[in-house]
Amino acid sequence: MQRMLNSGLALAEARRLGIKAVDVKRIGVIGAGQMGNGIAHVCAVAGYDVLLSDISRERLDAAVKLIDSNLHRLVARGKLTEEEMTKALKRIKPVDSLDAMKDAEFVIEAATEDEQVKRKIFSDLCPKLSKTAMVATNTSSISITRLAASTDRPERFIGVHFMNPVPLMQLVELIRGIATEEETFQTALEIVRRLGKLSANSEDFPAFIVNRILLPMINEAVYTLYEGVGTVEAIDLAMHYGANHPMGPLQLADFIGLDTCLSVMQVLYEGLADSKYRPCPLLVKYVEAGWLGKKTGRGFYDYRGEKPIPTR
Ligand SMILES: NC(=O)c1ccc[n+]([C@@H]2O[C@H](COP(=O)([O-])OP(=O)(O)OC[C@H]3O[C@@H](n4cnc5c(N)ncnc54)[C@H](O)[C@@H]3O)[C@@H](O)[C@H]2O)c1
Repeated sequence: MQRMLNSGLALAEARRLGIKAVDVKRIGVIGAGQMGNGIAHVCAVAGYDVLLSDISRERLDAAVKLIDSNLHRLVARGKLTEEEMTKALKRIKPVDSLDAMKDAEFVIEAATEDEQVKRKIFSDLCPKLSKTAMVATNTSSISITRLAASTDRPERFIGVHFMNPVPLMQLVELIRGIATEEETFQTALEIVRRLGKLSANSEDFPAFIVNRILLPMINEAVYTLYEGVGTVEAIDLAMHYGANHPMGPLQLADFIGLDTCLSVMQVLYEGLADSKYRPCPLLVKYVEAGWLGKKTGRGFYDYRGEKPIPTR
């Protein structure tokens, strides 16, 4: 119902204005980490050709392997046929260089949450694209308007913020920059619709809607640990059963990646200039230690054994 309301109203308005989505066949995905591989997975299953790239060949190979095993799991659970899986896998082309992106009509950047990294990607990428290609960023927090301004096409630039893990999570936030044109928005909306996901529109303010609300809660959970109010286990148990959250906030932080959590808090702290967003020093310490959560094997839990063990 909500899905119909969301896209229905926006589509009706666009129809009234005579603005249509561009018909996208090939999507580029830059960054093959947790998010990039999930985005490539859902796009391929939905029938898009996907060009997947990463600065690290290792990460790229690992992503292709992971997509393969995730799709096999869907087949085993009866959610995808063998034929659909084979077709989806064939649609994903890992590429070593951004040159290959010249054939993409829509490119989604999902690299590390660092403004300088993203700006450098856009400055390398844009000259290789066709004039009409659109660029989206999956940033969790950085200003879409500012990133758009660093490209040669702010009107064809948009925030398309997927949730983690992408194949399971239903929501995508759509964020227009100040210059984003209606055609770009309609195209992103059509892609989200074809992926079978729900969209929520957010204004371009630090961390948008979901992370503006979620990350301060996670940061507060880290303060609760830092101040000794509870142990890792007690905090997660309390929020899991006491607030009926599907998992505790520290476990969730490990899934998101503690570097990404810290980065979002820094953007909130600097962007809104309010001390209530001050990143917890303990979060900083974990990131400095390289304990970034599940992806590095250790965060608030140690994942290297058979079952996760709290690290404090
Ligand atoms: N983790 C989450 O829960 C989550 C949710 C929504 C959005 N995001 C956003 O998605 C983006 C990626 O996050 P992630 O969790 O996948 O991180 P990640 O650390 O798992 O993956 C980042 C990938 O980017 C690659 N990379 C770094 N520099 C690059 C470059 N110059 N060119 C190409 N690839 C490069 C890295 O090699 C790595 O594979 C970030 O902007 C993050 O804020 C993350």
